[in-house]
Amino acid sequence: MRKHPQRSSSLNRRQLLVAGLGLAAVAASSSATGAPPAQPADPAGKTPERGRGAQAMRLGVIGAGWLGATVGRLWVKAGHEVLFSSRHPEELVSMTRELGPRASAGTPRQAAEFGTVLLFAVPYEALPQLGRDLKQALRGKVVLDACNAPSGNDHALSREAQAEGVARTSAKYLPGTKLVRAFSAVDATAIEASAKRQSGKLGVPVAGDDAQAVQVALRLVRDAGCEPVMVGGLAAASSFQRGGPGFRANTTAPELRRLLGLPQGP
Ligand SMILES: NC(=O)c1ccc[n+]([C@@H]2O[C@H](COP(=O)([O-])OP(=O)(O)OC[C@H]3O[C@@H](n4cnc5c(N)ncnc54)[C@H](OP(=O)(O)O)[C@@H]3O)[C@@H](O)[C@H]2O)c1
Repeated sequence: MRKHPQRSSSLNRRQLLVAGLGLAAVAASSSATGAPPAQPADPAGKTPERGRGAQAMRLGVIGAGWLGATVGRLWVKAGHEVLFSSRHPEELVSMTRELGPRASAGTPRQAAEFGTVLLFAVPYEALPQLGRDLKQALRGKVVLDACNAPSGNDHALSREAQAEGVARTSAKYLPGTKLVRAFSAVDATAIEASAKRQSGKLGVPVAGDDAQAVQVALRLVRDAGCEPVMVGGLAAASSFQRGGPGFRANTTAPELRRLLGLPQGP
């Protein structure tokens, strides 16, 4: 039977990711490291984060392709519990098994219900339907939106994102969420490389209107081995959407601030 091109491509990418996840899997596996096993989630959905004294979170990843799987597995390594989702969750099981007990696989609905914080990393065209289907589960949740509208003017969503700003467009299709733009303007490979470095971390632009949601996003960017650069409210996200100076700059935080005309500082 002929495979759907996108599905086939997702699968190949996932297989590559799984192949590249050996070290992360070892780090995440308590049996391999001799570290204490991960704590079961408490009723508030929080567990002690290994080695950092901070509270671990329950995170739902909607779209576990290049970007979602890359960021999600770094969060597992940082001590969070992550449910990776796919419309075909059985395809994620080998990846989550390698990542250890803090990783699990499910449907987008299960991820949306599981996570106190969600990462959306799906093709932009999927957002309107997901917003409708998951409306109840998304209500009031912090959503890190990494999705970029397609390039060009052919697609109505691309025209809308260009005219209204991508953040405002995402917020329209994911109503009732505390939406923060994060991880949208950096390449998954650059995130992966940054997480392995001790210094010169990748600058990840972040924009959001909800102060508490922004704080969560800043922490989760750091937990993915990158350095957040706070750009402003959702309207300011246009500076790092497609066509903006911060889009795919894939550079350090000081250089990103310079590109965006932001003051240097923490
Ligand atoms: N790749 C990067 O470096 C990067 C960097 C920054 C931002 N982004 C953005 O992140 C998003 C994903 O990019 P990607 O490169 O990770 O793509 P990808 O590897 O093709 O992964 C896309 C994921 O979305 C899921 N998906 C597709 N259609 C869906 C639907 N209708 N409902 C639910 N899930 C659906 C797919 O899961 P199933 O098919 O298994 O259901 C797949 O896991 C894009 O918006 C992109 O602009 C990507």
